Amino acid sequence: MSIRYRLILSYIAMIFVPIILFLVASLLMVTLFIGDIREVSQLLPANHQYHKIVQPDQQFLTELKEKSIMDPNTLVQPTYLDSLSGRLDELETSMILRKNEEIVYSSEETKDIQTEHLPAFGSLSTNNNIEKLGSDMYSIKQLDFISSDGRKASIFLLKDASPVVEFTRTFFPIMFAMLILILIFTNGLLTYYVSKSIIKPINHLKKAAEKIGNGHLDDALVVKGKDEISQLTRSFEDMRRQLKHSTEIQKQYEHNRKELIAHISHDLKTPITTIKGYVEGIRDGVANSAEKQERYLQTIYQKSVDLDHLIDELFLYSKLDLKKLPFHFIKFDIKNYLIDFVEELTFEFENRNIKLDFSYDEKKLYEIEADPEKLKRVFSNIIENSLKYMDKVAGEVRITLTSTAHEFIVSISDNGPGIAKESLPNVFEQFYRAEQSRNIQTGGSGLGLSIARMIMEEHGGYLRAESELGKGTTIHIIFPKEGVQA
Ligand SMILES: Nc1ncnc2c1ncn2[C@@H]1O[C@H](COP(=O)(O)OP(=O)(O)OP(=O)(O)O)[C@@H](O)[C@H]1O
Ligand SMILES: [Mg+2]
Repeated sequence: MSIRYRLILSYIAMIFVPIILFLVASLLMVTLFIGDIREVSQLLPANHQYHKIVQPDQQFLTELKEKSIMDPNTLVQPTYLDSLSGRLDELETSMILRKNEEIVYSSEETKDIQTEHLPAFGSLSTNNNIEKLGSDMYSIKQLDFISSDGRKASIFLLKDASPVVEFTRTFFPIMFAMLILILIFTNGLLTYYVSKSIIKPINHLKKAAEKIGNGHLDDALVVKGKDEISQLTRSFEDMRRQLKHSTEIQKQYEHNRKELIAHISHDLKTPITTIKGYVEGIRDGVANSAEKQERYLQTIYQKSVDLDHLIDELFLYSKLDLKKLPFHFIKFDIKNYLIDFVEELTFEFENRNIKLDFSYDEKKLYEIEADPEKLKRVFSNIIENSLKYMDKVAGEVRITLTSTAHEFIVSISDNGPGIAKESLPNVFEQFYRAEQSRNIQTGGSGLGLSIARMIMEEHGGYLRAESELGKGTTIHIIFPKEGVQA
């Protein structure tokens, strides 16, 4: 339940619970003090009908009214009024007739009430009014009319209200105290309930925030409800997860950076050590024949070329990584582009006696949006691998161009040594070389595929590798049909 509803409910409860409790408590109190609820009537004088004070006999009053209109002369006759005493006794009511500020008739019980005690002509309605007349409380009804001699006359019907007043006087303070107690009790109980259901989860959240503040990001927050605090806790939990994720990424970055530096230093150091060794060999006269010197120089030259190539690769890699390499995208048909690319490669493949095949649908248009210069780097890095790692006598490289609903796919397959299953997910990582022993012979920095991957990402595309050890490798180069997305 939401806190809003909980508060609304508690406010409603704060009104109704005391009322119900008060009613129950009143009943209980009456039962306790008086014995039985039916005995309340005993509190009043015998045969006293309580409700009659509140609702005096309307019939009688109506009759008097009619009489005051039809026959006002008779109404003021004391003999007529005396004849009503039977009815009045039945109704436990006394009657006073005042004519011109003078009491001309009064029942036995109200003889001591003086004219000045009574309300003035026309001041009271026929509704019940409880007033103090003389020493007692009376429920008064007043009927004003003009008698036949033109004088102002008033008939007062009086009921003794003292028992009600007495009852109220006795019980009112107790009831009042009880009401206050019930209010305090209900208020306290509801406040405790509401604050418990709000403050407890807030404290829980506070502790979790402190933990996160201290760098403990592992403890998940359990959220059950749907109220506002649960929603806040859920957002908090999302935040903790995000924070944990980015901290892990940060750690991974840091680890990668350290590895990168270690790799670069190692890859730069190796050829330099070789160069240094060969230079010393020449200087110290180890290379004592012209032929030997030539061999030494050739090695030094080759290592320098490797070093130059490595530095170029590193430079390209870091520019791509920092997104500082400008791309110039144009729209063209990749089919024609690949026909030219294959043409260029033919000579080298023939030289190395490796078959090169390119298949595509002539009738189809394969229009992509790309930077042709950078794309060449992608294809040549992949083809270079197929050539470099080829271990079969009848080597074969197949390029296939296909398309799906949303993509153009260039697949480059070879029948080389293949890549082990566990190494496959890592081949696009920088400096990753699947088989160290094999790579010692083939050389390479492990940057080729990661450079290709980054260039493809700039194109809004990606690379995917499939391979089976001993059978060959396929690298899929995938372009989105909708072009480069910003
Ligand atoms: N066609 C392939 N056949 C077998 N193994 C491959 C093939 N292509 C990639 N690999 C494996 O994946 C690794 C990563 O390739 P990548 O091109 O990134 O680096 P490299 O070829 O070692 O070095 P570089 O390309 O920078 O000269 C390679 O070292 C190799 O072990
Ligand atoms: Mg390579």
